[in-house]
Order: sequence, then C-alpha cells, then structure tokens
Amino acid sequence: MYPWRDAKTTIAIGENRIVRFAEFKDIAAFRRWCPWGPWGRPGSNHMSELLITGASGFLGWHLSRYFAGRGFRVTGTYSSHQLAAALPGVELCHLDLLHPTDSPVWSRHYSHVIHAAAMTRPDECEKQPSLTTLVNVEATHLLLQGFPGSRFVHISTDLVFNGLARDYKESDPPDPPNVYARTKLWAEQQLVQAKNAIVARMALLYGPPAPFGGGFLGWVGARIEQGSSVPLFTDQYRTPVYVGDVARAIEWMLESSPRFNLYHLGGAERASRWEFGLKFAAEFGLDRTMLVPTTMESAGLVARGKDCSLDSSRLTTESGLALCKLDDGLARMKEGRY
Ligand SMILES: NC(=O)c1ccc[n+]([C@@H]2O[C@H](COP(=O)([O-])OP(=O)(O)OC[C@H]3O[C@@H](n4cnc5c(N)ncnc54)[C@H](OP(=O)(O)O)[C@@H]3O)[C@@H](O)[C@H]2O)c1
Repeated sequence: MYPWRDAKTTIAIGENRIVRFAEFKDIAAFRRWCPWGPWGRPGSNHMSELLITGASGFLGWHLSRYFAGRGFRVTGTYSSHQLAAALPGVELCHLDLLHPTDSPVWSRHYSHVIHAAAMTRPDECEKQPSLTTLVNVEATHLLLQGFPGSRFVHISTDLVFNGLARDYKESDPPDPPNVYARTKLWAEQQLVQAKNAIVARMALLYGPPAPFGGGFLGWVGARIEQGSSVPLFTDQYRTPVYVGDVARAIEWMLESSPRFNLYHLGGAERASRWEFGLKFAAEFGLDRTMLVPTTMESAGLVARGKDCSLDSSRLTTESGLALCKLDDGLARMKEGRY
C-alpha cells in the first residue's frame, strides 16, 4: 500500500510557492487555496465534456482524435510536447503533473476524464523514484479528487504483474517488479476506492504513429528506417492491443454502467516481442533481417515481467466488444483505421 503519510517530497506550485504536496490530500483545502474555480459541478448538463491527460503521448493522441470524432468536446493536455495543428477539434491545454495546480485545466467541468499522462519509461522511472511517485501517483490522486463528479478512467498497465504466470485476470494479485509498475499500482489502489473511477489495465499498445510517440512498433519501424538492427525479446510475452479497440473499450467504460471498477484490456493474441516484430515487418514489407532475436537478461534493463499476458474476458463478456488478433490489428493500422 502506498505510504501517503510518509511522503516527504516538496514541489513548487504557483508563483514560486513551495508547498508540501501532502498538504493537499485534503481536496477541500486545495479548492479553497486554488484560485481557478469553478470546480467540478456534479449534476451539470455538459454530458460530453471530456478531459484527456497526456494528449501529446501515443495513447492520449489517439484517444483525443477518436473521441473528437465521436462528438465529445475534448480538452487534451500536454506537458513538454506542445501539439500544434495536429489535433483538429481538440482544445489543447498545458498540464505539468509536477505543478498540477498551475494548469488552466481546473477552470472547467468535465463529465468524463481519461487519465493517460504518466512517466512511462521503466528505465527512467527506476532512476527517479520520487519524481515518478509524484507524477504517477500523487497527481493522479489530485486529479481524481479534483473532478469528483466526472466518470474517471485511469490508464494502468499489465506490468503490475510479475510475469511468472500468464493470462492474468483482474482477480490475480499484482506484484510489480520495478518503480514504474509500483507507482502505477499505487495509483490504482487510490482509484479502486472511488465510486466514479474505473481502472483500465492496458497491455502493450500499438497503432499508427502519433506526432511525439509511435509506441513499440514506432520504435521498431524507425530503427529499420535508420538502417539500425532491432533487438527484440524472445522471452517477453504480452497481449498487444490495438489502439482502435482500446478507444472503443474506453468509450464503453465512459458511457455505460460497467459492473466492475477494474478491467484488463489486452488483444486476443499472446506474442513475444520477437513474434510481434516479425508480424509487423511482414505486414508493412519491412526488411526482417534487421530484426535480431535477443533475451531480456542480455539487454541488462530494469526488471520486467516475462509473461504479463492479460485475460480480458471480463471486458469482452460484459461489453460485447471484440478485441482483435495481431493480423487484423496490423491491417487496420496499415489502413489508418480505428
Ligand atoms: N504504450 C504502451 O504500450 C502502454 C502499455 C501499458 C500501459 N500504458 C499506459 O498508457 C498511458 C499512456 O502511455 P503512452 O505510451 O501513450 O505514453 P507516452 O507516449 O510516453 O506519453 C506520455 C504522456 O504523459 C505526459 N507526461 C509525462 N510526464 C508528464 C508530466 N510530468 N506532467 C504532465 N504530463 C506528463 C506526456 O506529455 P509530454 O510528452 O507533453 O511531456 C505524454 O503526453 C500511460 O499511463 C502508460 O502507463 C502504455
């Protein structure tokens, strides 16, 4: 469990004012302090005002495009990567999760919130555990408390599991092996208590590249284009999930009344990164001789689970949605179709 009361870190908020973040565990005090009201108004008629954090990232960018096209009025946030005209129909707004109260994001009510922003690179998170905790855990808590009247979908990860088993269900106990995964789990633990929140645990994501991130396949494709070999793990298994399926599943979470507050969201097929890379190269006509099989151990990276494949039957059974296999997802990706 996350040791809230032991948090020692301080951050700068507003005009050089240094505040212990922990002071704002009491959101009522935060509201009194924050000058940018009005705050979330439960019962408002604005039923399709959607806030997406991390719109400059891979998933957030796709979700922003998808939901703008579905009639939602979308506000998307960025931190270090300002999107220019790349997201038509989306109002962009700066939000730094290290200084969350500096953002104009609080000035509006949102009927729905998708929280996708996070520090996402496990090797960087490992070197900066305090910073990662502030961004991935404490800021998530603040956002949830700040929008109590909104349906709140939090994006988590399959990496909360240790990967010693496979086909993880929602009822399986997490055992995060690194700082990134631990902070994602701590964030989840705050959220599962809230009546308005749903945690969506993603598998490895793939889809057309976004302006500031292409996900795993974007990295593979870029390396091949540069003429660099691509080391791919033969011993790390996931259930890669296509962004179009993710968008539809999250839409269901936002608009219906799901029975549970935790869902796994992985594709219909389990594959190693190596197998996934081969399928990608075949579908896109890329030079497969650039792909080099390797193992996690030889790469010397921070610990990750070997098989974090997800069983997403809770979601598919309840929603009636299908989550596609790799060939289908890659074909949709090639056509740029959600
Ligand atoms: N990609 C995957 O395969 C995968 C798998 C499982 C779960 N997930 C989860 O899915 C979510 C999205 O992942 P992604 O792959 O789209 O990540 P990404 O491409 O790395 O994007 C991360 C986003 O978070 C924002 N961000 C980072 N630090 C921030 C800060 N201090 N303040 C405000 N915003 C900050 C970034 O903004 P700037 O770039 O503007 O700084 C960016 O918009 C994350 O929660 C991740 O844990 C991803």
